[in-house]
Amino acid sequence: MLDTDLCWCGSGRIYKVCHKSFDERLKSVKLKKFRGQCRPPRQIIKNEKDIEGIKKSGVINNGALDLIAENICAGMDTETVNLLAHNYIVEHGGIPACLNYEGFPKSICVSINNVVCHGIPNRDTVLKDGDIVNVDVTTILDGYFADASRMFMIGNVSPKARKLVEVTKECMEIGIAALKPWGFLGDVGAAIQHHAHKNGYSVVRQLGGHGVGKKFHEEPFVAHFGKKNTGMLLVPGMVLTVEPMINAGKDEVVIDPFDDWTIYTKDGSLSAQWEKTVLITETGTEILAD
Ligand code: MF3
Ligand code: CO
Ligand code: CO
Repeated sequence: MLDTDLCWCGSGRIYKVCHKSFDERLKSVKLKKFRGQCRPPRQIIKNEKDIEGIKKSGVINNGALDLIAENICAGMDTETVNLLAHNYIVEHGGIPACLNYEGFPKSICVSINNVVCHGIPNRDTVLKDGDIVNVDVTTILDGYFADASRMFMIGNVSPKARKLVEVTKECMEIGIAALKPWGFLGDVGAAIQHHAHKNGYSVVRQLGGHGVGKKFHEEPFVAHFGKKNTGMLLVPGMVLTVEPMINAGKDEVVIDPFDDWTIYTKDGSLSAQWEKTVLITETGTEILAD
């Protein structure tokens, strides 16, 4: 690419003043192939317009989760939680990304106790005192996706369940703290795994975080386990989710054979999850949705 060509990132600026020094730095990194190190593909590097788009989508997504936080309670069925989020997103000009995504029938996921993720909202599932619940919301605005989830504790939750929820939140925060420009993706998984294991918990391996932006799920797959200094190089302009699923018991999961969506812990133990959409900047990270 010539200095005076328009930059490949789509910013509309010439290459020389846009991603030229970025490309030089990217090329200069010596990759250790035996550690599975690789460079990110160009199509997952966001420009300023993309970042603004994801951020705006994130504002609506956060608003939907805030609304749920204010209203969720014992006695509420999970379809009501779904409608709260659905209506909020639509009223603010967004589209609930989960609805009809690969055939998913509802606008959000609501996952209670031993459900790891992808719980389908319905009228018959009623929240009760002591439940721990993950609500996972994804919004599309002007073609940009923002993805986040939070845990809610319904009424009086046992100390064991509360600890799982709290440690899982710490796992997400520690994972995000390990996301560094010019670091490696394996740093994130290694940090999360260490904190989970230290607390006697296991990390779900079959599902993970993901790149996000113009698509719901982009490269890379963000494993919540792994080794430092392995995997994809992390660079400014990447947007990823960190969304550890942590089990109180064993890490194995099973998928519901009837609905083909709901993921349960195999041993019936409790599971928790928190998720944020995170931008890697020149100097660190910025949260785009939480
Ligand atoms: N929001 C989930 C994630 O964090 C994906 C849900 S897909 C659905 O990646 F189809 F189940 F909604
Ligand atoms: Co999500
Ligand atoms: Co996600």
